[in-house]
Amino acid sequence: MSSSDFYSSLNAQLAGLLSEERDWLANTANASALLFMELADINWAGFYFLCGDELRLGPFQGKPACTRIPVGAGVCGTAVATGEAQLVEDVHQFPGHIACDAVSASEVVIPLYDGDRCLGVLDIDSPSVARFTEEDLAGLRGFAEVLLQNSDLSGA
Ligand code: SME
Repeated sequence: MSSSDFYSSLNAQLAGLLSEERDWLANTANASALLFMELADINWAGFYFLCGDELRLGPFQGKPACTRIPVGAGVCGTAVATGEAQLVEDVHQFPGHIACDAVSASEVVIPLYDGDRCLGVLDIDSPSVARFTEEDLAGLRGFAEVLLQNSDLSGA
């Protein structure tokens, strides 16, 4: 299956899963479970939400993780500070990377916006270097869009 077919199917599954629920906590919990179930070769998938000048841990699947990340710190805090998604081939080469699980080797982080307001990030880690490609990033941006359109995330 091509990457674009994979993400079309994944994102349609997410839309189905969220079709009768808009609660942000329920929907981000199910979204992290869907990612963890369907994406190959990952060890963590979940959310951090912006509270003031720090990110706080939200629903996730994987090992317990750090609970607070200052804006500008690590891969997640950099995504918020810059407003740009981060596609990190080798986390050990990323200055200030925060290692929650020692096996993580690559990472993708997508900031979540309600208009101009950053709400938080979607974060996915893999134990393999260069696990995530530009195709993954495009597919996961679509995933985040489905989540945002189908959830009342402004309450998060
Ligand atoms: N590696 C992230 C921290 C969160 S964990 O990956 C779950 C970072 O550098 O921001």
